[in-house]
Amino acid sequence: MMGMNAIAPAAERQEVNDQLFAPILARVASVEKLTELEKVFTIELPLGMSLGHRPGQFVEVSALGIGEAPISVSSSPSRSNGSFELCVRKAGNVTGALHKLQPGHKIGIRGPFGRGFPIERFRGKDLLFAPGGLGLAPLRSLINQVLDERALFGRVIILYGARTPSELLFKDELKKWAMREDMELHLTVDRGDENWAGHIGVITTLFRDISIYSRNTVAVTVGPPVMYRFVLMELLGKGISEGNIWLSLERRMKCGIGKCGHCQINDIYACQSGPVFSYNEIKGLEEAL
Ligand SMILES: Cc1cc2nc3c(=O)[nH]c(=O)nc-3n(C[C@H](O)[C@H](O)[C@H](O)COP(=O)(O)OP(=O)(O)OC[C@H]3O[C@@H](n4cnc5c(N)ncnc54)[C@H](O)[C@@H]3O)c2cc1C
Ligand code: FES
Repeated sequence: MMGMNAIAPAAERQEVNDQLFAPILARVASVEKLTELEKVFTIELPLGMSLGHRPGQFVEVSALGIGEAPISVSSSPSRSNGSFELCVRKAGNVTGALHKLQPGHKIGIRGPFGRGFPIERFRGKDLLFAPGGLGLAPLRSLINQVLDERALFGRVIILYGARTPSELLFKDELKKWAMREDMELHLTVDRGDENWAGHIGVITTLFRDISIYSRNTVAVTVGPPVMYRFVLMELLGKGISEGNIWLSLERRMKCGIGKCGHCQINDIYACQSGPVFSYNEIKGLEEAL
C-alpha cells in the first residue's frame, strides 16, 4: 500500500506500525472559511516530519476526544513544506468538532492512506478534470501538482460544477486558473443567483462545449456518487477508454488500513485498493457505483 510509512522524520524513519494505529499530534496552523459548510485547515506536522502523500490519498483525522474521520489531502505534494491542507465539510460529530478548531489547536493524523492517482501515467496526456462539489478538494491536490509540472502534460481542461455560486470552493484559486492561458476552466452551477453571469446547468451540460482528442486524453472525476453515472456516460461518449477514466470512491471508512471491513465492496477494501480506481477496475463490481 502506498504511503503507509510516509509520515516520518526526514532523517530517521519511525516504526511504521506506530504510525498505522497511533495518530501523530499535529498543529492547526490556520483556518479559512470557504463557504457556509466548508473550511480549509493548514496542518503542521512536528518538526522534521512530512506527509509524503500522493494526490488522491487521505488521512484519518482525529478531533481529540470525539473521533476520527477520513479526509482527503487537498494540497499538492509539490507545495508541501512540513504542512498540508484539508478541506472539511461540516457533516456531523467529527467534522463539526473540526470546524470549531482555531489556529494553535491540536489534532491527530494517521496516514496518508490508500492509493492515489497514478500521475506518472498521466504525463504526456491531455487531462480532463471533472470535479463536482466537494470533489474539488482532493482533485485540487492533483491539479496543482500538474500545474507545477505543467510542461509534462498536454492540454489541461477543468469542468467544475457546484449547486450554487456560493458553494463553489476555492474561488480565489479558480480566478487564478481562469486567467492562465495554459489551461481551460469551465464552471457551472445548478442554480444561479443575481450575481452569476456564467453557465447554468448540471456538470454534464459542460461536456457539450468541449472537443477533445480522446485517444490521448485521461479523465479524472471526483464528486458525489449520483454524479458518476452521468459523467461516465459523457466521458465514454467522447471516446475516452475505460482505462483512461479515473475516479475516487468514498466509502464509509474507519480504520483506513484494511482491518475493519467498513469500506468493503465485494472482495476489495476501498481504503487500500482505492479510493482511486480506473473505471475498468470497478465497472464489474456490484454496488461500486
Ligand atoms: C476517502 C475519503 C475521503 C474523504 N475526503 C473528505 C474531504 O476531503 N472533505 C470532507 O469534508 N469529507 C471527506 N470525506 C467524508 C468524511 O469522511 C465524512 O463526512 C465524515 O467521516 C463524517 O464524519 P462525522 O463524524 O462528521 O459525521 P457523522 O456524524 O458520522 O455523520 C454525519 C453525516 O455524514 C454522513 N457520512 C458519514 N460518513 C460519510 C462518508 N464517508 N461519506 C459521505 N458521507 C458520510 C452520514 O451519513 C451522516 O449523514 C471523505 C471520506 C472518505 C471515505
Ligand atoms: S476502512 Fe477499515 S477496512 Fe477499509
